[in-house]
Amino acid sequence: MAIIEVSNIQKSFGDLNVLKNVSFEVNKGEVVAVIGPSGSGKSTMLRSLVHLEEVNGGSIRVQDEYLVHDGVYADSKQLKKITSRMGMVFQHFNLFPHLSVEKNLELAPRQVKKESEEQVHKKSSELLRKVGLTDKAAVYPANLSGGQKQRVAIARALMMNPDIMLFDEPTSALDPELTGEVLQVIKKIAEEHMTMVIVTHEMSFARDVADRVIFMDNGEVVESGTPEQIFNHPKVERTRAFLNRAQQ
Ligand SMILES: Nc1ncnc2c1ncn2[C@@H]1O[C@H](COP(=O)(O)OP(=O)(O)O)[C@@H](O)[C@H]1O
Ligand SMILES: [Mg+2]
Repeated sequence: MAIIEVSNIQKSFGDLNVLKNVSFEVNKGEVVAVIGPSGSGKSTMLRSLVHLEEVNGGSIRVQDEYLVHDGVYADSKQLKKITSRMGMVFQHFNLFPHLSVEKNLELAPRQVKKESEEQVHKKSSELLRKVGLTDKAAVYPANLSGGQKQRVAIARALMMNPDIMLFDEPTSALDPELTGEVLQVIKKIAEEHMTMVIVTHEMSFARDVADRVIFMDNGEVVESGTPEQIFNHPKVERTRAFLNRAQQ
């Protein structure tokens, strides 16, 4: 059974139909890359998975529970339970500026999960090591590079022990020389068999790490397949045209 099943979700902002019957599945341990032009609904789709947007119709199932079923949302307790299984990393880091790196990591597990100080500290040290920032534990976000901030954001999301990680263009706010270090960390997490959905404009990264690629355009899933199928043998003209532009 798929770990995420999205069926016919629709979303409009006023008259603008941003998601038009979007459906896809993600299997456990799978890395799915979502590509597509700006404005095609990628962020809205990802935000809908964690209930940062409410869809107007359709269903989203995570593991064996429905976040929304035929347009009807679960109750707030259930919503919290379901969304807490997913960690999200945004384009713009969203770190707490008034907290050190370490405290950024430790805040939610302490406050939301009521984990002990000792337990949380052990985990934050481990995760800072994993993202290569052990020496930045006491530093404030303002004194980090963009690549370092994003690695902190990734570690912070992992602190909650998510079953699924969602990334929304994690490197698109970074200078080109800083994207590599962030992609490297994401790749490492993928290799540990984390289930991931990554919206990205880094085509070579998508080709390299994704098990499956979904191409979205104009609020629709146009095509999905293995990286080999999508990048080397796209079936749909719109996919081909997008890839020609993106890979120039
Ligand atoms: N909160 C919002 N209010 C109104 N329009 C929005 C809002 N969020 C996104 N949109 C519009 O929805 C469309 C899809 O946006 P988005 O999901 O951000 O696309 P992508 O991430 O693929 O660039 C765009 O036309 C965007 O302007
Ligand atoms: Mg976006």
